[in-house]
Amino acid sequence: MPATQTQATNTRRIDVAALFELPPGTRTFVQVGRNRVGVFNIAGTIYAALDVCPHERAPVCQGRCGGTNRPSGVGSFDWDAAGCVLACPWHGWEFDLRDGKSLHDPRCRLKTYRTVIEDGRVYLMVP
Ligand code: FES
Repeated sequence: MPATQTQATNTRRIDVAALFELPPGTRTFVQVGRNRVGVFNIAGTIYAALDVCPHERAPVCQGRCGGTNRPSGVGSFDWDAAGCVLACPWHGWEFDLRDGKSLHDPRCRLKTYRTVIEDGRVYLMVP
């Protein structure tokens, strides 16, 4: 997996996969030094997060992706974040892959990474 360094931002760009190898609804994993990062295609948008749950360090990126019901009035359901809510496989804490925030406590968050699609390839941007 080749990595290139961008001089202006001092960010490493890591080649993850060809976009066709990561179709919507799938995920893959990339090793970044000693860390593993999960890279997800959620309805055509690519998200990436460190595969370590902030609760007790479970491999959170192996959890299921779904959505959530936001607080709403009695008898109404406000379905949101379809596919973007990652549930930790150990104790079920849920995180929004779009910003890494925990649904129950926004002060608790997954480490997320920026991704770029260029010339049909998916890249992970690592500081
Ligand atoms: S280790 Fe992830 S919820 Fe407990």
